[in-house]
Amino acid sequence: MSRYVLPVSVLGTVVGGAVLLKDYVAGGACPSKATIHGKTVIVTGANTGIGKQTALELAKRGGNIILACRDMEKCEAAAKDIRRETLNHHVNARHLDLASLKSIREFAAKIIAEEERVDILVNNAAVMRCPHWTTEDGFEMQFGVNHLGHFLLTNLLLDKLKASAPSRIINVSSLAHVAGHIDFDDLNWRERKYNTKAAYCQSKLAVVLFTRELSRRLHGSGVTVNALHPGVARTELGRHTGMHSSAFSSFTLGPIFWLLVKSPQLAAQPSTYLAVAEELEGVSGKYFDGLKEKAPAPEAEDDEVAQRLWAESARLVGLEVSHGSSVKAQSLPR
Ligand SMILES: NC(=O)c1ccc[n+]([C@@H]2O[C@H](COP(=O)([O-])OP(=O)(O)OC[C@H]3O[C@@H](n4cnc5c(N)ncnc54)[C@H](OP(=O)(O)O)[C@@H]3O)[C@@H](O)[C@H]2O)c1
Repeated sequence: MSRYVLPVSVLGTVVGGAVLLKDYVAGGACPSKATIHGKTVIVTGANTGIGKQTALELAKRGGNIILACRDMEKCEAAAKDIRRETLNHHVNARHLDLASLKSIREFAAKIIAEEERVDILVNNAAVMRCPHWTTEDGFEMQFGVNHLGHFLLTNLLLDKLKASAPSRIINVSSLAHVAGHIDFDDLNWRERKYNTKAAYCQSKLAVVLFTRELSRRLHGSGVTVNALHPGVARTELGRHTGMHSSAFSSFTLGPIFWLLVKSPQLAAQPSTYLAVAEELEGVSGKYFDGLKEKAPAPEAEDDEVAQRLWAESARLVGLEVSHGSSVKAQSLPR
């Protein structure tokens, strides 16, 4: 009997340690119990993964939730799931393809015309490590969807967000931004050999820089904007990497994934927290890793890079030319 004591206690320690490590890696649930009755929320890319769970978490709190997705069949199905699970009937699907400036403008125009207010905008959608694709307007897909699409959408909705203040913008970035670099000579990968990983990292760094510059421009407006890394989660994000479909990688990496990877429900907690937490009232321009504020990568804190990226992004999406409500940089606080 005694010969089993050692192996059993080793096994117990390993299992206990694994569970503790998983809890640590997963981070916690949103500590705020705040409700959002009467508030209107837009979540992009809300038909699956972290976006769908964020929409569900916010629907539970009573908001009027708009799922903004490119595939209306999936979007309607997600809205139905969320209505059924939360019994909140103010959950609706709208078409938004972030790979099309026309679609973004149409979506924003409808929101402005039909919604009384927009209190919370969660810029969640993303594409990761796809082949060398371009958007309808010729931008590299990851930069175009993850950054430029949200950049235009947010700017078009700014007046509505300001009129609904205090309001919040949440930009879902990634820890991957630390490996990113903004190459102003070739933002859209026309000259360089395409690197799917570097393109994703550049797009996620752009999201943090956009957050910083937008926060500066919104100073005193009652609209806050923060960026976050949700943690590594079991979603469809890896659909272009091949890891999803490989039985070998599922088998070998499965246990490691179980240990290190969050459920979409847990990965939605940081977005939920930034959207509702009372203690974050007025907090803006910050980067959160999970529920904790952290310093982002040094390049993400470079104001010159942030302002240059803003100017380039505005030029690329035609913001200054055709949309007067782009916030002017002049005479704003540093
Ligand atoms: N999962 C992770 O480990 C992880 C880690 C760090 C950061 N993040 C970030 O978390 C966010 C959510 O990712 P996820 O893991 O939930 O990924 P996901 O399951 O792949 O969901 C991504 C969502 O974005 C949508 N989307 C993609 N291209 C779009 C377009 N052109 N227009 C509109 N929507 C579009 C997708 O729609 P379709 O279903 O129609 O393609 C989907 O709804 C992303 O910003 C991602 O970078 C995730």
